[in-house]
Order: sequence, then structure tokens, then C-alpha cells
Amino acid sequence: MPRNIIDVTDLTIEEINQLIATAEDILAHPAKYQDACAHKQLATLFFEPSTRTRLSFESAMLALGGSVLGFSEAASSSTAKGETVGDTVHTVSCYADIIAMRHPKEGAPFAAAQFSEVPIINAGDGGHNHPTQTLTDLLTIRREKGRLDNFTIGFCGDLKFGRTVHSLVNALSRYENIRFVLISPMELKLPRYVKEEALKKRGIPYEQTENLETVMPRLDILYMTRVQKERFFNEEDYLRLKDSYILTPEKLEPAKPDLSILHPLPRVNEIAVAVDKDPRAAYWKQVKNGKFIRMALILKLLDIHV
Ligand code: CP
Repeated sequence: MPRNIIDVTDLTIEEINQLIATAEDILAHPAKYQDACAHKQLATLFFEPSTRTRLSFESAMLALGGSVLGFSEAASSSTAKGETVGDTVHTVSCYADIIAMRHPKEGAPFAAAQFSEVPIINAGDGGHNHPTQTLTDLLTIRREKGRLDNFTIGFCGDLKFGRTVHSLVNALSRYENIRFVLISPMELKLPRYVKEEALKKRGIPYEQTENLETVMPRLDILYMTRVQKERFFNEEDYLRLKDSYILTPEKLEPAKPDLSILHPLPRVNEIAVAVDKDPRAAYWKQVKNGKFIRMALILKLLDIHV
């Protein structure tokens, strides 16, 4: 059976730390890795739009000396003719050595993996999980803070539909002494199942609030998120909630001088462009890190040692 990464809990903490170490080595010595995946092929099957995840996976495989194939929308695949996702993935697994798949339906990559002869990586499934964004976030936190334990992190925005939040809360709950502050409107609170599985089961305390300003001075990391328009059932609710939080230089005045601001991107309106110049803004570094941690993951799943 191939090794799949559907959920961040498919990796142990030791494996995550090793992936981070490999990514750091790739960053320091890229030439060492440039032919590591020669003659290997990555397929990117994206049934939902993406900029960073698809292109960083493709850039990662190309930087490892491999090649890429795939599609960026369901309409250009035989899904449009009624083919099941299982049959599509079975077909592609005859051509590629590894598959990264994004789908709007929660659980679709897990179901598809049953039909694949090669490793499947969940590149985001609906409002559920996004494990490789979490690896990107962990590498970024490790690089910004020098550690993955003993800090207070505030998650702000759409915690209900934000799959990157669900996966990162789950991953960080396995590290020591992380204090979670969950900042959202009432309607967009972190789902109960994430709180149960990641926090309550492990006895980890957390705080929920609607007010970013009051908690700002205590945060070591602020993880901003977009309100996920595509997951709303009606536009009226989206329009009412979409600008619940807009981070500006003024709102950052009471924040710690060594705060790190993360955002999985894309952003819409929740971080003013003026914040980009703040040395605490780490989200563009986060984008770059995504390529290197995905290189490390591809090597691991293909069992290639450099
Ligand atoms: N962070 C992220 O998943 O971005 P894309 O939707 O552009 O891939």
C-alpha cells in the first residue's frame, strides 16, 4: 500500500520535525537535491482553484529534477463527462509516481486514495483539512520563532470553514505548551469536532473571543484567515461577515515587537497591504517556505534519500 497524507495526523511529530529539518537542508544546499527525483512524475489534480498549493507542488517537483502533469480545473478532465473521482485517480496513478489532489468535497482525497497505486497527498478538501499548508506553517513558525513549543497563537477570522486552521490546530496541539486563542464571529467559530479531537481530548485549554484588539498584546503568533466565500450557503451572510477583522498598522500598535503574522493566503481584505512592510509580517516568507517543505514531503513519500 502506498503511504498517503490525507490528514496532518498521518505524520508523527518526529516525522514532521524530520521534514522540517530536510526542508532546512534543501534551503541551505539546493544543488544537492536538484536531480533527486529525476525520471519521477508528480500529478497535480486540482478540482478546485489554487495558486500557491498547485504551483508550489509543481515548482517543488521541478526543483527536484522530476516532471509534472495534471489539470487545474475539473472541467478540463473527464470528470466533466461523468467519470468518478476514483476512476480518475486510478487512471492518473498509472502515469504518475505521486499525486497531489485538491477537491471541494470533504473526504474526497481519502476516498480517492482507495483507488490509487501511488501516494496521494491531500492538497485541501473542502472546509476540512489542508495538511501541506500546515507543514508550511510549521516550517515558517520554526524559522521565525526558533521553536515549535511554548507560545500563544491567535487564530483569527473564519475558523469554521478555514481548513488550514483545522489542520494547524491539530498539529500544534501535539507540541508542548501551546496556548490557543480562537478569535472569530459567533457564526464562524472553530467546529466542535476540531475542538474535541485536537484540544479537549488532550486536555488543552483554549480561549474563544470575538475581539482581536483585547487579546493582541498577548499573542506571539497571529494567524489571520480569509472568510471563505465559496463555503457559504447564502451571499447575505458572507457580505455581513466578510470584513469582521481587518488588520491594519494601527491595530498592531499594542502587539508584541516579536509577533509573527501568518496568513495561508489568498487574502481578500483581512490584512491591509500597508502591513506587508511591517517586519512582523511573515506571510510572504510563508509562501516561499511552502515549496521547500513540499520538496521534503515528496522525497519522503517516494522514499528517496539524498
Ligand atoms: N494557501 C493556499 O492553499 O493557497 P491556494 O488556495 O492558492 O493554493
